Amino acid sequence: MMIDKTPKYALILVSGLMLNSTAWATRDGGSVTMLVGNCIACHGPEGSSLGPATPTISGSDDETFLETMKGYKNDERPSSIMGRIAKGYDEADFEQMAKYFSKQPFVRQKQKFVPEQAQRGQEYHDKYCHKCHEENGYVDEDGSAILAGQWMPYLQFSLTDFHAGTREMSKKMKKRLKKMVKREGEGSLNDIVHFYGSQDRNNINRHDDNDDHSSDRDHHRD
Ligand code: HEC
Ligand code: HEC
Repeated sequence: MMIDKTPKYALILVSGLMLNSTAWATRDGGSVTMLVGNCIACHGPEGSSLGPATPTISGSDDETFLETMKGYKNDERPSSIMGRIAKGYDEADFEQMAKYFSKQPFVRQKQKFVPEQAQRGQEYHDKYCHKCHEENGYVDEDGSAILAGQWMPYLQFSLTDFHAGTREMSKKMKKRLKKMVKREGEGSLNDIVHFYGSQDRNNINRHDDNDDHSSDRDHHRD
């Protein structure tokens, strides 16, 4: 079942929905440009959202993208609208979309964040999250998705869904998230959002100065 657990979020989205509701009904299944045109109407140029209501979908691994779309289609992943949208496509479409969006750069916009919160968030990230969300969340390794520079309202809602148990996550992530909230309080979820939101570098080569294992990654996806 797809139920809006996030009425405020859904409200922000209504305008987008009305503007674009015909866009995805009339796809002709021809070129990739036609196929992804419907997505770009909401997700921004080449999948990098100008947003804050819609997440950026470019730059992630094509496998991650594919799993996400299948999750929406099967209602395994909660959503306000993506479940409905995903049902209009088949796996071959998803594969084409994945191929396209994984090749586009994740373009970050500057967001308003509270420096103290971002700093606390960095500590929590280093302690509880960095093992899977490597390089401050700039890379998508093993399906972890890109968190650095993702839109803060979207991160907030994702974390709320995880925390409330409405969106499934791996056992390991669950354990780390629970531990963080237990030790640092629920405010830590917010701090983490400010941290990822503060990450606004573009054109980085998928590795970070304070990581010590860069060489095995440079040629990861060229
Ligand atoms: C009407 C606006 C709209 C359209 C059109 C749209 N999306 Fe989305 N998309 C969203 C919203 C909003 C979310 C957040 C989940 C939700 O609440 O549905 C999302 C989430 C996603 C995510 C998850 C991102 C992440 O990192 O977690 C992916 C992938 C995605 N959309 C792909 C697509 C593709 C591919 C298309 C085109 C077939 C598309 N979207 C069309 C609004 C839209
Ligand atoms: C054991 C590995 C692991 C750990 C530890 C982990 N994560 Fe994740 N995380 C993942 C994977 C894999 C996904 C993708 C899951 C999916 O999309 O279903 C994910 C997804 C997410 C997302 C959603 C991204 C999106 O685009 O929707 C957020 C937000 C997130 N993690 C935050 C955190 C935070 C905060 C921590 C630390 C408290 C953390 N994760 C720890 C593996 C991990």
